[in-house]
Amino acid sequence: MSEVQNTTPAKKPIIFSGIQPSGTLTLGNYIGALKNFSKLQDDYDCIYSIVDMHAITVRQNPAELRRRCLELAAIYIASGIDPKKSLIYCQSHVPQHAELAWILNCYTYMGEMNRMTQFKDKSAKHADNINVGLFTYPVLMAADILLYQTNLVPVGSDQRQHLEICRDIAQRFNGIYGDVFTIPEGYIPKVGARVMSLQEPTRKMSKSDPEDTFVALLDDPDTIRRKIKRAVTDSDGEIRYDPENKPGVSNLLSIMSALGEGDMEAIAAQMQGQGYGALKTRTADCVIAALEPLQAEFKRLINDKGYLQGILDENAKTASYLANKTLRKVQKKIGFAARG
Ligand code: TRP
Repeated sequence: MSEVQNTTPAKKPIIFSGIQPSGTLTLGNYIGALKNFSKLQDDYDCIYSIVDMHAITVRQNPAELRRRCLELAAIYIASGIDPKKSLIYCQSHVPQHAELAWILNCYTYMGEMNRMTQFKDKSAKHADNINVGLFTYPVLMAADILLYQTNLVPVGSDQRQHLEICRDIAQRFNGIYGDVFTIPEGYIPKVGARVMSLQEPTRKMSKSDPEDTFVALLDDPDTIRRKIKRAVTDSDGEIRYDPENKPGVSNLLSIMSALGEGDMEAIAAQMQGQGYGALKTRTADCVIAALEPLQAEFKRLINDKGYLQGILDENAKTASYLANKTLRKVQKKIGFAARG
């Protein structure tokens, strides 16, 4: 064994993900993304960005956007991401994102962007502000990912098409200039079921739907209990995991399962003969207990703005250093004049 002692540790694969500082984060974001982010820190080099430049593709209130960026930093840290191990920074603090996005715009076709379903959905929703940024949003996302030679991108199903286009752009660029970019893969966590709306359990839980359809990450216990009590179930009264026929009940079971209560069928078996009232009480207890430490840590952090600002400043510097390596390579390849 002695011959391996002096070898440098193998480089860890790189993970990149981003969350927009717009709107409230939900239990769905926690179970589907955040909760897993912190678990990846030891096996991967993780970069978690606060993607404020994506957020402005929809009009934002400036004071609120500024507040939400800091809050998202606190939420990342409160969820267990260690800013000494992983990078947490604001996208707008690292100008290389915008610079690479411009370049990649010139390697992306109108026809490709026209196919993006999220653009179609969002432009229908914001008919008064169909801006060019919204159209080219996936190119900025590609720049985010490619700047860091990312290997894996944890994404939900709504971002699959964007990841696919990122891979296409990278492959096209590499085809012309050689191996400049690592081609990223999607990373689908083993656990982390999709959390559905409490009122329309066949749809994904979304922060852009009405208040009573989601649990917000920072909801207080009474609010959580009230929202879960009012969740839509069905009329047959049986606790059984069957997403096809019993989406509401199954959603509550899978929320508990994702929060560590065991698998859905096992929970259902334990609760045989009990009513939906008991199911909802147990789900609410479980959600409240899972969010409590995060909420407590969030409250502590958000009162320490100096600390948060320090983390964001320091990590943006590191991110910028890493991003610059890729950007310089790209600029050289495409023929931008050398810098003295
Ligand atoms: N578009 C993503 C979303 O809305 C956020 C995002 C921006 C992102 N850049 C990214 C996610 C890069 C993963 C990787 O959910």
